[in-house]
Amino acid sequence: MAAGAMTAGRAKVAILISGRGSNMAALIEAAADPAFPAEIALVLSNRPDAAGLARAAAAGITTEVVDHKDFGKNREGFERALDAALQAHGIAFVCLAGFMRLLTPWFVGRWEGRMINVHPALLPAFKGLDTHARALAAGVRLHGATVHLVVPEMDSGPIVVQGAVPVGDDDTPDTLAARVLAVEHRLYPLALRWLAEGRINVEAGRCRIAGASAPAGLLIAPAV
Ligand code: GAR
Repeated sequence: MAAGAMTAGRAKVAILISGRGSNMAALIEAAADPAFPAEIALVLSNRPDAAGLARAAAAGITTEVVDHKDFGKNREGFERALDAALQAHGIAFVCLAGFMRLLTPWFVGRWEGRMINVHPALLPAFKGLDTHARALAAGVRLHGATVHLVVPEMDSGPIVVQGAVPVGDDDTPDTLAARVLAVEHRLYPLALRWLAEGRINVEAGRCRIAGASAPAGLLIAPAV
């Protein structure tokens, strides 16, 4: 069987980016395995200068730009253009990967249960920007990353998976960001796999993942 025919049945995914696209790259790399249950069919950016666009093109992925600036204050017009691009490519699932635009309830509703986001903090702590500096200022000993289903409220929605890292006395926002980013790159392909396999069930606002459960053990920081 031709490789194309073998992968024809995989669910199509769009990754929405605004910047460098390292999480996008992690998803592209995971989906390069024909056994992965989804294929990255489109990378969409709201910024024509997003570095991730070149990275996606180099990996042979179709890229498009829907520049929010072309729509001025017409947020709905911007989102209708985004949605049209997603429909045109037959997209089944959307991954937000450093996509720095707030989405309206209309767009979120269209993709409800089919759109996930990665956030560089252990939600519901540190929603929004500058999460690493804020975690350091708060003095938390554990920090991390979250993948969640997208709902209209920013950085909210049922949590699919989280990964924690210890915070060291000498950490800076940059050293912490690097440690958390490595976790994001681990978590995001896992979450997309579960989504594409239909294994995420939401009950009373909580995700249950078919075939996955909490690990034994604990993480204590500082070390004891
Ligand atoms: C990532 O750390 C992602 O979690 C964060 O932006 C960065 C994008 O990096 N997203 C948010 O803060 C959204 N609330 P990347 O472009 O290299 O993936």
